[in-house]
Amino acid sequence: MSPDSFPLGPLPYPLGAPLVRREGREKVTGTARYAAEHTPPGCAYAWPVPATVARGRVTSVDTAAALALPGVYAVLTHENAPRLAATGDPTLSVLQDDRVPHRGWYVALAVADRLETARAAAGAVRVRYETAAHDVRLTAAHPRMYDAETANGGYPGTRERGDFEGAFAAAPVTLDATYTVPPLHNHPMEPHASTARWSDGHLTVHDSSQGATKVCEDLAALFRLDRSEVTVVSEHVGGGFGSKGTPRPQVVLAAMAARHTGHPVKLSLPRRQLPAVVGHRAPTIQRVRLGAGDDGVLTALAHEAATHTSTVTEFVEQAAVPGRVMYTSPNSRTVHRVVPLDVPTPSWMRAPGEAPGMYALESAVDELAVLLDIDPVDLRMRNEPDTEPDSDRAFSSRQLVGCLREGAERFGWLPRDPRPGVRREGDLLLGTGVASATYPVYIAASSAEAHAATDGSYRIRVNATDIGTGARTVLAQLAAGVLAVPEERIRIEIGSSDLPPAMLAGGSAGTASWGWAVHKACTALRHRLRDHVGPLPADGLTAAADTRRETAEGSPYARHAFGATFAEVQVDTVTGEVRTRRLLGVYAAGRILNSRTARSQFIGGMTMGLGMALMEGSVLDPAFGDFAECDLASYHVPACADVPLIEAHWLEEEDPHLNPMGSKGIGEIGIVGTAAALANAVRHATGVRFRDLPLTPDKVL
Ligand code: MOS
Repeated sequence: MSPDSFPLGPLPYPLGAPLVRREGREKVTGTARYAAEHTPPGCAYAWPVPATVARGRVTSVDTAAALALPGVYAVLTHENAPRLAATGDPTLSVLQDDRVPHRGWYVALAVADRLETARAAAGAVRVRYETAAHDVRLTAAHPRMYDAETANGGYPGTRERGDFEGAFAAAPVTLDATYTVPPLHNHPMEPHASTARWSDGHLTVHDSSQGATKVCEDLAALFRLDRSEVTVVSEHVGGGFGSKGTPRPQVVLAAMAARHTGHPVKLSLPRRQLPAVVGHRAPTIQRVRLGAGDDGVLTALAHEAATHTSTVTEFVEQAAVPGRVMYTSPNSRTVHRVVPLDVPTPSWMRAPGEAPGMYALESAVDELAVLLDIDPVDLRMRNEPDTEPDSDRAFSSRQLVGCLREGAERFGWLPRDPRPGVRREGDLLLGTGVASATYPVYIAASSAEAHAATDGSYRIRVNATDIGTGARTVLAQLAAGVLAVPEERIRIEIGSSDLPPAMLAGGSAGTASWGWAVHKACTALRHRLRDHVGPLPADGLTAAADTRRETAEGSPYARHAFGATFAEVQVDTVTGEVRTRRLLGVYAAGRILNSRTARSQFIGGMTMGLGMALMEGSVLDPAFGDFAECDLASYHVPACADVPLIEAHWLEEEDPHLNPMGSKGIGEIGIVGTAAALANAVRHATGVRFRDLPLTPDKVL
């Protein structure tokens, strides 16, 4: 379908307008209910018991003291918990056997009439272990390191083109540098929580999830039920950043406990337990080698990323993938290596792959610019490819150069004195930096229903999830646009597995995937309404649609969003503290469907990139095998005082090769270039290149 067929009438609320989010008032007045705020009659409370050893087996669980507490209903262990079927996700096989694959793995669950009792009971459970030696230390040359066959997202682990070694050896200017990113935690504002109840064999769960369809399917599989026997509701979700993209143990435990005790059960994970059980961004050790001519044009590019996974399942952070997209590189090698350690299982965190990968690549490009004495904006423009380097496919649209140009203009990049350490304000050194951003266009089959009622209102049903992005609002805008009716007449039903199944809120693909299905259903409804003669039947008219056919076709084009991030920092030469003075991003991400919610997404991503650059980081304690930073007192995220005015802009972009709305994803690209832009600014300020994130005072001083 071409954008020409997108029937935008003269509307009161055209697509792109900054509509305020529909549930905003509910959220700020506290009436919006989250998963842990549903309390069915007779509801019990659960508190998990995490393993206190890093590897081994549970030899005994003494629950007597816990069960003796008044109000305790049960303590589930691997000996008495309901038996589950296996799914594709072994992190969900909780309390099924005695093995402890990492510290924090759940070994028991206390269930009681009150939260306080459940917590006390969990504390009274005595677990004995037989321990085995553990290893949580990632090194690039780890003896058990292997080349990954595929990386997250289904990308090939290794890609080679041309003769990297030969070209690198022959290049007049070369750079060989290694960058590290520590483990990072998602820490959404709302911790993972579920309220589960069984009624006549039907399982109903309120779950804090980015996609209730998948949670429903997995629960059905685990408990050997038909999909129709499970309802999962995720009405409001307080962020996820990838950690709620798949079901997490709390939903399985809550359902198990509810079945075992006969009570509805509520389980809200304590924040300190999140790092061990909801995924994390795996640490990476990334070696980047660049070879270029004196003109700055790259002749050789190698990006080799080493990372860890758990012994439970393989997850490979695809950090070398953006090296296949970004720059001219006739001779290139991109490799992912992974070692299974006795660590919690890593998973998706906002822009998995691109966020750490582009930190390394864009730092390396900056280093090359310094070596060549070429302006880093100019250097990037000199390496603009005609086609996607890895695949030789044409780009559906690519406005990286436009973003760099517009960003440089708005930021006041030129004239910039490239010499480091020349701008000083008392004890402060000032510097500026730039980095590119990219994020792929993903889309997945979704289904939706559009209904016209006799009172002139319309109802859209689709199992989209609003994780704080404004999904309801943009879908209403889209439906109003297609149906050519005012947005107020559209009702949106999302966030339940009883609705037509749809893509999770992830991969920056939610709006495009749901929107396409909504667009198709509304188009069909509009045709039905046009063809209908006489008054509507009492139950109105309905049209259903799904995009399996459209999305199965794939695309002959390389489809990515692009951006450019500019940063200004001050570095305190007395304390070593780096503070962000300015952040400015310019993005090209197809058509922007709601300028208000889109701006929030870009700014949110950039803020998370600021955290990644300057403060976020977690340490796996080699002795105990757990993350030393488990809460928000020790795992520092940007607070308001750390965040300056952040500007997000975008270019008009008409791309006919995406979807009927012409939109690319915007949820993740904001984080992508930000860490490198800040790190490059720190180098400009100080003349010192720091290659290990985060740039905390202890390193910088
Ligand atoms: Mo995102 S890390 O795909 O939720």
